[in-house]
Amino acid sequence: MNTRKPARPFRSREWFADPNRSDMTAVYLERFMNYGVTPEELRSGRPIIGIAQSGSDLSPCNRGHVELAKRVRDGIRDAGGIPMEFPVHPIFENCRRPTAALDRNLSYLTLVEILHGYPIDAVVLTTGCDKTTPASIMAASTTDVPAIVLSGGPMLDGWFEGELVGSGTVIWKSRRRLAAGEITEEQFINTAAASAPSIGHCNTMGTASTMNAVAETLGLSLPGCSAIPAAYRERPQMAYETGKRIVEMAYEDLRPSKILTREAFLDAIALIALIGGSTNAQPHITAMARHAGVEITARDWVDHGYALPLILNMQPAGQYLGERFHRAGGVPAILWELEKAGKMHSDRINVSGKKFSETLKGRQSPDREMIYSFDQPLQEDAGFVVLSGNLFDFAIMKTSVISDEFRTRYMKTPNDEDSFEGIAVVFDSAEDYHANINDPSLNITEKSILVIRGAGAVSWPGAAEVVNMQPPDRLLKLGINALPVIGDGRQSGTSDSPAILHASPESAVGGGLSWLRSGDLIRVDLKKRSCNAIVAPEVIEQRKKEPLPPMPASQTPWQEIFRDHVGSLSEGGCLENAVKYRGV
Ligand code: FES
Ligand code: MG
Repeated sequence: MNTRKPARPFRSREWFADPNRSDMTAVYLERFMNYGVTPEELRSGRPIIGIAQSGSDLSPCNRGHVELAKRVRDGIRDAGGIPMEFPVHPIFENCRRPTAALDRNLSYLTLVEILHGYPIDAVVLTTGCDKTTPASIMAASTTDVPAIVLSGGPMLDGWFEGELVGSGTVIWKSRRRLAAGEITEEQFINTAAASAPSIGHCNTMGTASTMNAVAETLGLSLPGCSAIPAAYRERPQMAYETGKRIVEMAYEDLRPSKILTREAFLDAIALIALIGGSTNAQPHITAMARHAGVEITARDWVDHGYALPLILNMQPAGQYLGERFHRAGGVPAILWELEKAGKMHSDRINVSGKKFSETLKGRQSPDREMIYSFDQPLQEDAGFVVLSGNLFDFAIMKTSVISDEFRTRYMKTPNDEDSFEGIAVVFDSAEDYHANINDPSLNITEKSILVIRGAGAVSWPGAAEVVNMQPPDRLLKLGINALPVIGDGRQSGTSDSPAILHASPESAVGGGLSWLRSGDLIRVDLKKRSCNAIVAPEVIEQRKKEPLPPMPASQTPWQEIFRDHVGSLSEGGCLENAVKYRGV
C-alpha cells in the first residue's frame, strides 16, 4: 500500500477506489488488466501518469517519442507512478492538407477530452513538430491537470557540400536558386534531403524549436530540455528525469495554473526576439495565454517583445543550427542573458519546483559565436513590429530576417530609414499566386508590393503558410530576392522573408485586404508602426459594397466546424467557444 499523501486526492481514485461504488470500480478495473496491470496496483493509491504520445508514422518529426516513451515509463515507475500511454491526434507540419494549423485546435480538443474523461492524475506532453507543442499546452491549461513538456528535440545539423543546411530555410533559398536557374531539380532534392539527417524536428529556429523553447521558458519543461538534439544520449536521459519528475508533480499538485502566469507569457514574448523565433509564435503564445486565462494584448508584443536584441546566431535569422545551440547552453543560456539584463521575471517557478533565479545559476554560454551577450548582440530591436492601418487592425513583421539587400533597397531611402511604399499586386489565394506570379501582364517590378488574401484562418481553414511569396523568376534572375509582401495568412517559421503577416481581420470576414485592388499605392512605416493603402475614403466605401473575394467550400465536417468557431490570428486563432473552459 502506498503511504504517501498527495496534496490533493488523486482523481483516479474516483474510478478505481470509490468506496461507495464497488460495482462500478470492478467495471473500470476489469479491462485495464488486459495488459497485465493488477487491481492492486491500480487501487494502491499511486498516481496514474498519462503519456500523451504524439509520435507516429504520420508524425515523423515526433516519431522519436515512440522510443523515448520507454524511458519516460522507466522514470514514472521508478518514482512510484503508473504509466499509461495513449495517442494524440497527429499534426505533421509539412504534409497535412490543407494546412497543419487546422489541426492544432483539433488535437487540442481531443486531448482535452482524454485528460478530462479518463483516470489520469498527471500527464507528460510529448512535443516537437510545430503545433504539437501549443496544442498540448492549451489542453493542459483547459483541464489543469499537472503536466510536464518533454520535447523530442531537433534533428542533427544538416550538411551539404561543406555547408550547413537547415530544414525549411534551405528549401526557401533553393526555390529561389532553382527559379533563377542556378541549380537543377536534382540538386534541390539532394539539398533538402541533406537538411534532415536524423530523427527529430526541424533543426533551424523554425516553429518547432521556437515553440519548444517557449514551453521551457514558460516553465513547463525541465531546464535545458528543449534544445537537446533528438539523437543525443541526453535526450533519453531527459525523458527518464521527466518521467520521475511528473510523479512528484502529481503529489505536489503542481498544475499549469500555478506556472502559467502573465509574467511567464511576457518572458516567452521576450524570448522570441532574443532567439529570432518563428512568427507563428504570435498566434500560438496568444492562444496558450487565452486558454490559461491570461490576457496578452497586441500592446504586449510592442512593450515586451520589440526593443530587445537578437542574441542567438541560428538560422533563419543567423548562421548555425540546433546542435550548436544545445552545446552553447540552450534556452537556459538565453534566459541567463535576459535575467542579467534585468528583463526576466525570474522569481517564478518552473516544473522543477524551483525558481528560475535558482535554475539559471551558472548557465552563461561558453560559446559567444552562437549566443551573443545582451550588450553586444547580433542585432538591436529585433522583435516583431506590430502594424495597423486601414488595411488591418493588426499584423506583424519579423525584423530579424530583413536582409541587408532588402534594407538597402527599401528602407534606407534618403527621407526615412524605416518606411517604404509600393504598388499593390493582389492575389486571391495561394493557387492564384502560383499560377500567375510569372505572368508578364501583372507588370511586377521592384516597386511592387505583393499582397495575398484568402489565406486567413477562415478562408483557408487554419490559415495558409503562403505569405512568403517569392518574386517572379525574371526579378530573381536580376538578383532581386525579396519584394515586400503582405497577407492575411502565415509564413513558415523557417522562412527568411520580410513579410507583413497575420493581417487581422482577414479578407474573408471583410477585413481591409478585401477592398484592396491591384494598382493601389501602399505605404508602410515601421517606426510609426503603420500600413495604409492610399485610397480615398469614398472609393473604399464604394468597394466595400462589392462582393468579398471567393472562398473555397469546406471539404470535411471539421473544416466547417472550425470555420464557424475560429477567431482571428491576432487573437490566437482559437475556437472562441473553447477558451472559457478551465479545470477538470
Ligand atoms: Fe515538423 Fe518542421 S516539419 S518540425
Ligand atoms: Mg510551418
